[in-house]
Amino acid sequence: MRSWMLGDRVVNRMGFGSMRLTVNPDHSVALAVLRRARELGVNHVDTAAFYRTPGGVLEVGSGEVRFATELIRQALAPYPDDLVIATKVIPGHEPLRAQVEENLRRLGTDCLGIVNLRIIKRPGQDSIAESFGELARMRDEGLIKHLGLSNIRIDHLDEAKAIAPVVCVQNSYALDIRRDDDLLKDCGDRGIAFVPFFALAGNQREAGSLNDHSETVRQIAAAHEVTPHQIRLAWTLHQGEHVLAIPGTGDLRHLEQNIAAGSIRLSPEELTLLSVPPGQEQAPAH
Ligand SMILES: NC(=O)c1ccc[n+]([C@@H]2O[C@H](COP(=O)([O-])OP(=O)(O)OC[C@H]3O[C@@H](n4cnc5c(N)ncnc54)[C@H](OP(=O)(O)O)[C@@H]3O)[C@@H](O)[C@H]2O)c1
Repeated sequence: MRSWMLGDRVVNRMGFGSMRLTVNPDHSVALAVLRRARELGVNHVDTAAFYRTPGGVLEVGSGEVRFATELIRQALAPYPDDLVIATKVIPGHEPLRAQVEENLRRLGTDCLGIVNLRIIKRPGQDSIAESFGELARMRDEGLIKHLGLSNIRIDHLDEAKAIAPVVCVQNSYALDIRRDDDLLKDCGDRGIAFVPFFALAGNQREAGSLNDHSETVRQIAAAHEVTPHQIRLAWTLHQGEHVLAIPGTGDLRHLEQNIAAGSIRLSPEELTLLSVPPGQEQAPAH
């Protein structure tokens, strides 16, 4: 299945993450990537008001700071009906309402499709009830359509669901980041989308694209005549019909490869080989 009902919209399971859009100083490239993503069928875009020119200090062209949210607005507004834009807010940075308002302003809309409460786990400050309750009130006011959670544990999901419906969970998860296997399955059982970030970057996290692929990944990629990155994405989508990918790129060629990865079919044998923990792999028998 290539699509999933996310909130009240059917989205293609291969979406797009906008965190890398502000890396290239030539922002016409970012606009081209966003428009091409739409042409290729992307209708689930992840963003945040704090995705901006690195450090907010690198000035380009007219000297303006670039925000991913504003690039999205420039490239895609007026927003088509099928497009779901998911953003995130972090308790403790600024008041949540101010963060929601900033997203509304920069995206140029009066209602945000999905807002993920992105938590930062701190000892002794574990309950999400207050901040999730605040977002639920903004949902009731019509500022937000649907709510999600990010960087959570299963018990956070129980806490949130007692307050308001949760349509997605966004945690880091990849071939080599598997600590949320149980959470992924639990989301599937509850009909909640699981949206992994760092599917390509893996343990390199913000540092970006992983190039140190295992021999298994390389050999399976060669057998399919695709890149190892595409196999990482294909593996991600094979983890469940409720798993939605949001690979981040500011590069047109990578975007096209990522969309194409949505059509790769891995065999049960390949999936078994890929599931072996890093460092214990044996070469596949191709
Ligand atoms: N909830 C959270 O806390 C959180 C945290 C981090 C990220 N996110 C979201 O998740 C999205 C994905 O995370 P991410 O962008 O950090 O990591 P990612 O998608 O795992 O990997 C992105 C990296 O891979 C490279 N890349 C992309 N496609 C490629 C391809 N086909 N071949 C080779 N390299 C490729 C990108 O560089 P190029 O630009 O050169 O392609 C970039 O360095 C983000 O964009 C953001 O929307 C959420």
